[in-house]
Amino acid sequence: MEIKKKAYIETYGCQMNISDSEIVASILEAQNYESTTDIKAADLIFLNTCSIRDNAEQRVRNRLNELHALKRKHPGLVIGLLGCMAERLKDQLLEEERHIDLIVGPDGYRQLPQLLEQVESGQKAINVLLSVDETYADINPVRAGGSGVTAFISIMRGCENFCAYCVVPYTRGKERSRKSQTIVKEARKLFEKGFREITLLGQNVNSYHSEENGIPIEFPALLEEVALINPKLRVRFATSHPKDISDDLLEVIAAYPNICKSIHLPIQSGSTRMLGMMKRSYTRDWYMDRISAIRRIIPGCAVTTDIIAGFCSETEEDHQETLSAMREVGYDYAYMFKYSERPNTLAAKKYPDDVAEDVKSRRLDEIIALQQELSLKSNKLDVGKEFEVLAEGVSKRSDQQLFGRISQNKVVVFPREDYNSGDYVKVKILSCTAATLRGELIK
Ligand code: SAH
Ligand code: SF4
Ligand code: F3S
Repeated sequence: MEIKKKAYIETYGCQMNISDSEIVASILEAQNYESTTDIKAADLIFLNTCSIRDNAEQRVRNRLNELHALKRKHPGLVIGLLGCMAERLKDQLLEEERHIDLIVGPDGYRQLPQLLEQVESGQKAINVLLSVDETYADINPVRAGGSGVTAFISIMRGCENFCAYCVVPYTRGKERSRKSQTIVKEARKLFEKGFREITLLGQNVNSYHSEENGIPIEFPALLEEVALINPKLRVRFATSHPKDISDDLLEVIAAYPNICKSIHLPIQSGSTRMLGMMKRSYTRDWYMDRISAIRRIIPGCAVTTDIIAGFCSETEEDHQETLSAMREVGYDYAYMFKYSERPNTLAAKKYPDDVAEDVKSRRLDEIIALQQELSLKSNKLDVGKEFEVLAEGVSKRSDQQLFGRISQNKVVVFPREDYNSGDYVKVKILSCTAATLRGELIK
């Protein structure tokens, strides 16, 4: 029997990168590699990287320095850089980071076998071509690291929105959707294997569009088809762009109990002037109208967001508008960032990055403090209420406790008793922090 080589993949960045690493693991398995979680035992180390902010790239650079030391001890070790940073920096990285053997962008993973062969023959290898149609639809991702309960399915790739601050359209290329039948098939298989929740992924899932047998299929129809697989299969999706979150989509979410009542709707800024400069293609009023539609059509739906503090020319007034928008919506959760200029984006070319670092930091702190308040307020409203929780695993603090999520995507910790991950459990909420709910079993 041939001895398998060991591959170690470390993933940075968004859920799409996690999903891509599962595709890469699958391609490697077909090449006589097996995945390992022990970096010291690895013959091959891949970093699947992110370029969204400068600090995301700095983390990878630091990691590469550590790997350099490892490679000195194991000269045969192959080090590869995948993902968005590979795509953004291309062969420049081979010059700057001399111990990297191969560079592969997000659309090049199918070429990995050939590229690895090239490395074995002593050459450096690179593929950073972007594709207009690659979706890896036929590749069955390896879902080894996870809980066996929840899984991601990538339904579309790329982004063509070109928000002024964002590097993604340059690192991920043109928007393209996967055929719905391949998505439904994958979801069904996962359910049969015991998975109970899937998250449909894309940079902008609600602009999903596919044509099959002459019939156009949009996101609401796809979501409905996935929800119909089984009422015991929960369905989530991320991310939605405010510009096309339609009433049709909200009505589908409302109609199926197994479509989770949680919408991630990044606002970025509460100031219409900032939104214009960001090229987000909606105003504050438009966004708030969509929030009213969510409140009207899906009562009890959680809303979460992304916010950027200190974008180019942001004034104190603009910043106050972001804070007031946060209060107006009452977000359940938010991902909050300081603006980081990315080379080649519209903002980098056209607008000075002119908000002082200490001002950015102070504004971000205020945003984080407010969100902390809002999350706590939202969680307190759940105390005393009953929810169905999908158990995902044993709590970190005690093996007598399980953790799971409610439909609104909040984490609940509750007594384990005879339950296991993958079970649906009825829980009454007893107490909370801003981050978690604590519950008792309802018998
Ligand atoms: N497609 C998603 C977001 C993907 S990137 C959407 O349009 O909502 C995730 C988040 O990173 C963005 O929502 C934004 O808040 C943040 N982000 C993107 N570029 C950034 C930059 N240059 N500086 C700071 N934050 C940024
Ligand atoms: Fe970036 Fe905008 Fe595309 Fe989101 S929609 S990935 S923020 S360009
Ligand atoms: Fe980062 Fe690329 Fe995702 S830049 S956020 S890994 S799409």
